[in-house]
Amino acid sequence: MYVAQPIEWTERGVVMLDQRRLPAEEISYTYTDYREVAKAIREMVIRGAPAIGVAAAMGVALGVEKSKAGSVEELKAEFSEICEVLAKTRPTAVDLFWALERMKGRFAELVSLGSDFGKIRAAMIAEAQLVHLEKKATDEAIGAYGAEYMPRDGQVMTQCNAGALATGGIGTALGVIRVAYQQGRKLHVLVPETRPYLQGARLTAWELMRGGIPLTLITDNMVGHFLKTGKVGAVVTGADRIAANGDTANKIGTYQIAVLAKENSVPFYIAAPISTFDLTIPDGSHIPIEERTAEEVTHIQGVRIAPDVPAAHPAFDVTPSRYITAIFTERGVAKAPYTEALKKLSLAQAVKVAG
Ligand code: MRU
Repeated sequence: MYVAQPIEWTERGVVMLDQRRLPAEEISYTYTDYREVAKAIREMVIRGAPAIGVAAAMGVALGVEKSKAGSVEELKAEFSEICEVLAKTRPTAVDLFWALERMKGRFAELVSLGSDFGKIRAAMIAEAQLVHLEKKATDEAIGAYGAEYMPRDGQVMTQCNAGALATGGIGTALGVIRVAYQQGRKLHVLVPETRPYLQGARLTAWELMRGGIPLTLITDNMVGHFLKTGKVGAVVTGADRIAANGDTANKIGTYQIAVLAKENSVPFYIAAPISTFDLTIPDGSHIPIEERTAEEVTHIQGVRIAPDVPAAHPAFDVTPSRYITAIFTERGVAKAPYTEALKKLSLAQAVKVAG
């Protein structure tokens, strides 16, 4: 089954598929400067929490690889700057900060072992590639746990794009759907457009179509209608940050889907890796919500659709954990009470990368 490749480490640089151009064009760029990688994250060439983490790890590796520092001491100063530039790209997806912490930890370890520049360079590239490989393994495991909760024959709703494009693996929410479908469950996916950036219409619809999974595209204001009348067996979405009590930030619009799912007795699931947990914050009120430009609301693909008026664009909302039936992770399934369940999963054995 077709799996999109949003990002790849190559000897020429970091290759990214430009998700802003999909589905009309499949265009890739090769980045050779970490600042370009940061710009690509900010401008949505690559998006989706886990994929942003992979991009950040590769951005750090690229910065070290191309560094002109004359000594490891000089490299240390530059390393901090590289991480800071990448950290300032998108505030909500905690995978970004998780990946930066991981690369910082590996760097500090190499420096403390007295490694020379050449060794550090090779090891940072290897670490970024490992982060990518782990995302692939993680998605497969999430898919296996979540698939069991999908209907045997029926409709499933998602939101935004939590597919291969968003992770670098098979996807989280779409990974669950993909595994369930491959197991023989007869799923039909309801895909909300996900205004204003249209990740549902442009990306999820494209991924499902390429993967041969049946779907129907709907507009965001049809969600309530379909949950009430459409025999939806489950909703499954991704996540950008999950607080210690299970409150979950995801693409704007997810909260209203969760509330409407509960109102209509449809189970609402989150599929996300442990790297999306932020157990340092007690609840969702502490999650920073990215504000994007008004132009993404007043324009579609550069074409003005509204008069020149103020427009708001909070890119994410927070779903209180009371609306979440279960959270699928690579280490198992969390259910309420979430504080205990998430803590237990965060301490469980990590998924191993084959080979
Ligand atoms: O603004 P985006 O496109 O980066 O937002 C993406 C989402 O909200 C996804 O649902 C989330 O990151 C999970 S991706 C596996």
